[in-house]
Amino acid sequence: MLRASKELALTEQPRMSILQNCSFTLQFFNLDKIIRCFFTRENHQEQLHCISWREQTAGQLTSCQGEDNQSLMVCVCVCVCTTDLLPALGGEDVTRGFLQELLHILLGYICKSSQRSSKVLDFHHPHQLKEGLEGFSLDLPDQPETLEQILVDCRDTLKYGVKTAHPRFFNQLSSGLDLIGLAGEWLTSTANTNMFTYEVSPVFILMEEILLRKMQSIVGWSEDEGDGIFCPGGTISNLYSILVARYHFYPEVKTKGMAALPQLVLFTSEHGHYSVKKSAAVLGIGSENVVVVKCDERWVQRAQTPSVTLLQGLAPFYVNATAGTTVYGAFDPLIAIAEICHRHTLWMHVDAAWGGGLLMSKRHRMKLQGIERACSVTWNPHKMMAVPLQCSVILVKKKGLLQECNQQGAEYLFQMDKPYDVSYDTGDKSIQCGRHVDAFKLWLMWKAKGSEGFGSQVNKCLENAEYLYDQLRRRTDFELVLSSKPEHSNVCFWYIPPSLRNVPPGPDRNSRLHQVAPQIKARMMETGTVLIGYQPLGSKVNFFRCVFSNPATQQEDIDFLLEEIARLGSDL
Ligand SMILES: Cc1ncc(COP(=O)(O)O)c(C=O)c1O
Repeated sequence: MLRASKELALTEQPRMSILQNCSFTLQFFNLDKIIRCFFTRENHQEQLHCISWREQTAGQLTSCQGEDNQSLMVCVCVCVCTTDLLPALGGEDVTRGFLQELLHILLGYICKSSQRSSKVLDFHHPHQLKEGLEGFSLDLPDQPETLEQILVDCRDTLKYGVKTAHPRFFNQLSSGLDLIGLAGEWLTSTANTNMFTYEVSPVFILMEEILLRKMQSIVGWSEDEGDGIFCPGGTISNLYSILVARYHFYPEVKTKGMAALPQLVLFTSEHGHYSVKKSAAVLGIGSENVVVVKCDERWVQRAQTPSVTLLQGLAPFYVNATAGTTVYGAFDPLIAIAEICHRHTLWMHVDAAWGGGLLMSKRHRMKLQGIERACSVTWNPHKMMAVPLQCSVILVKKKGLLQECNQQGAEYLFQMDKPYDVSYDTGDKSIQCGRHVDAFKLWLMWKAKGSEGFGSQVNKCLENAEYLYDQLRRRTDFELVLSSKPEHSNVCFWYIPPSLRNVPPGPDRNSRLHQVAPQIKARMMETGTVLIGYQPLGSKVNFFRCVFSNPATQQEDIDFLLEEIARLGSDL
């Protein structure tokens, strides 16, 4: 740490000395820092012994004995250790110095992440990182590291990671770095508390309640409807939706288990997120009991009455409609699906993990028309609203259902005779015990932007998607997967390399085209200039999917993306 080495300069600095036996005297002046002595064998390889101690004033160390009489090298350095940080007595200065250094590192990283000239990633294979790069070791030591080393570890961790805030990171639905959100995350970690009771999270619990109410009203539920909870991601939100739906129809499941129930069946579309099947497996319903509904030519769920013959002897109870599918960004016809659910007394869930953000935009919220009829909604502010990971909610229309479904009433936590309104001990609604505070950063961002700020942010992302769509239409070296204008910020396309431009459509062209996106992606990871995802889907061979949720992305980044793909694939 810089601070430590400055202090070191004030001292009469002991140099490394070769010792023939282990008895020696070292003199120190102006010292109030920890001195650490490493005894090593002459070849420096083997660290035999490490002693640390604190000198308050000038002093000396004598006769620090090694373990044998062999020739040893003693390496002495002044260093600041983690034990010097608060709550150590008088640890404020060291703590301030450490945090300032850390801030310096983080700020450097944040600035670099927004520079287009910097790389999005510096890719290394797992074995390279495990072997250690330029002194960056992932191994866990027996002896504590110095604070200086801890800071180097922090710097290296960021160095070998992926800059998801980079304007040319298009790989995932969650990207960007909102600085107010970051401040919220820092504050949250500083408070380091738990969301299970009002007792330990009074402010955060109220913020969560206010956010949930706000989001419910944006969905279109009335004041007397609505409940919800923040949970770790869209997958868990979807799991909650099936859990409460099942409890709503079959409350005995809570105590008697699945054996007391008929064979349940639920519906999702072929473009619905895989978390629905996963949740069915986790909940003991079974992934084979998820009926996958075909999509129409617009890639949205065909809102058809479930075939009764298909379902004979089975108990359908739940339909998942997606508002913003993961790959195409399509919106299922929510009004038509609501009609079917109403007619057949089925629970309607809307997975708006990705599309929920569009509710913030006056221009785009009509794409989710009918969401107000849903019994539950998944909404991930950590995707389209660019709130730092993680931030996801499950909203449930029926009040009290989450609590009834999950409540266990642990007496050591949820005592009923507390001196405040214990309905604010919301932790028993959750399937977790301890719960991270995910609400604060969203609350703070909402304060900083207002609802309108979020709306403009979403609009900008969709404008970027339209710009990309227009560029792709004009170019002959690219082909769109969907010819219609994007509904969300997903744009899917193929790059057609020179060798394929004159090949007629057919299996040969398809199988060669299938190789193109992975090859370009591999090169992209090596060069690190940009990052975008690809996948096959149904009968479509591998294609690129570009998604916009990063407010830092500008049209020049989109131009760059296309040029870079063309450059990387020019010899294919
Ligand atoms: C439509 C949809 N639902 C759910 C999820 C799962 O969200 P998470 O990654 O937060 O678990 C995703 C993730 O991409 C998604 O696109």
